[in-house]
Amino acid sequence: MNKVAATGHILTDLRDGILTLRFNRPEKKNALTLAMYNALTEALGRADADDAVRVVLFSGTQGCFTSGNDLADFMSSPPTGKESPVMQFLGAISQARKPLVAAVSGAAVGVGVTMLLHCDLVYAGESARFQLPFVNLGISPEAGSTLLLPRMMGHRRAAELLLLGEAFSAEKAREVGIVNAVCPDGELLETALAKAGQLAAQPAAAVRLAKALMKRGDASTVRETIAEEGERFMERLRSPEAAEALRAFMEKRKPDFSKFH
Ligand code: COA
Repeated sequence: MNKVAATGHILTDLRDGILTLRFNRPEKKNALTLAMYNALTEALGRADADDAVRVVLFSGTQGCFTSGNDLADFMSSPPTGKESPVMQFLGAISQARKPLVAAVSGAAVGVGVTMLLHCDLVYAGESARFQLPFVNLGISPEAGSTLLLPRMMGHRRAAELLLLGEAFSAEKAREVGIVNAVCPDGELLETALAKAGQLAAQPAAAVRLAKALMKRGDASTVRETIAEEGERFMERLRSPEAAEALRAFMEKRKPDFSKFH
């Protein structure tokens, strides 16, 4: 076992060809900070270059995958361009050459869901709860989700998830194609590790080629969409609607959008 604390908040563990990247900031529901994005980007880069890594597995802590971007960071150090840690991470995960697996337990919010759109196999515990609250926060969806979600499930079902921004169950996530399978909470990690192990035992070059070929048709559109969404996202973070939503989160109250048009 090779266990290294990348930042303390991202734990990495390379075993039997599977590099596990674990979100580990439970006191903030594994909300992703700038340092965590940097650690993830770096780990994905190393994974792509290291022959010992055949599969990457994302997981969270017991009962929480990740609550998405740290909302305090959105206020104090918002992304400002393509060099921003979140944009670098989205580039790395969307262009990863090796297969990516995710084990989703508990809350998966915001980028905690959109990152799954770039994973190859996704497993969820039966009590996992998914949410895409970008619009609720006065911001706009990211990570290629405005392209990939409607393509995956049709406009109306994507609109329901992105415009209403309500939480949805693991079963619904499976039904719309975001997860491959739902398993009992206690069996989640074992299931995801078994599938990752199966992938690791496959001929690695053939796996990488099949993945690349599946993504070939979409690659440039996904890249352009991520960039366009990123620009809009950064503008929206400066909007009065986002300011009200973020203030309301910090003050633990409901936002009031009635004065904005
Ligand atoms: N950024 C920063 N802090 C966060 C956070 C986030 N994304 N998500 C949760 N936290 C913090 C809370 O502020 C709270 O901190 P405190 O104990 O210092 O007050 C702590 O984590 C626990 O969160 P809490 O809301 O009490 O947990 P919960 O189990 O009731 O709910 C969530 C969990 C994930 C459903 C809820 O925290 C949530 O909706 N978070 C915001 C998610 C979000 O909007 N992400 C951005 C998407 S773009």
